[in-house]
Amino acid sequence: MAKLLHFFGTILILISFVVFPIIGKKDEYAFEKSMNRESMSLKREKLSHFKFYFHDILSGTKPTSIMIVPPPKNTAKTGFGIVNMIDNALTLEPKLSSNIIGRAQGFYGSSSLSELSLLMIMNFNFIEGKYNGSSLAVLGRNSIVETVREMPVIGGSGLFRFARGYVQAKTISLNVKTKDAIVQYDVYVLHY
Ligand SMILES: *[C@@H]1O[C@H](CO)[C@@H](O)[C@H](O)[C@H]1NC(C)=O
Repeated sequence: MAKLLHFFGTILILISFVVFPIIGKKDEYAFEKSMNRESMSLKREKLSHFKFYFHDILSGTKPTSIMIVPPPKNTAKTGFGIVNMIDNALTLEPKLSSNIIGRAQGFYGSSSLSELSLLMIMNFNFIEGKYNGSSLAVLGRNSIVETVREMPVIGGSGLFRFARGYVQAKTISLNVKTKDAIVQYDVYVLHY
């Protein structure tokens, strides 16, 4: 009998000093903890190339690119300080009437005193197929006189969580009167 009591006593001590503290740790409030990628279904990072056309429409009755900060007084020839807010259609083919696969939402501003160069801050919000609801964030310098401009992809949401990469933008048509432009975007992005 004494042996049995001793046995249970030992078990109790084991439970209170060894097992409880381990279980107890799980409930402790933690600011940070490491995770493994599998637990978030992040298996293999892949590289994808997306190609679509960006329609910067300033003219007509339904412009999607609107000047929200007009040129300041005595601005440089570059229009330094002008800011446009955009909700531009992204299409599969160069024509605006072709399939819309998403929209570019954000703004761009003339950010150089001496060159025609823009700071662009925008999200590509996709609606196409499995990418519907996923977005990519682009922030970069767009030197519009160059044939091909490169800007970083700094992140994303949905299927683009943890995304990083770059875009190459190439103007394929520009109406010098209205300033309406169609720009081809090639996006190279690493994502899961
Ligand atoms: C995208 O998803 C929304 C709801 O999240 C849905 O209403 C819409 O029809 C979808 N669009 C396409 C093109 O599948």
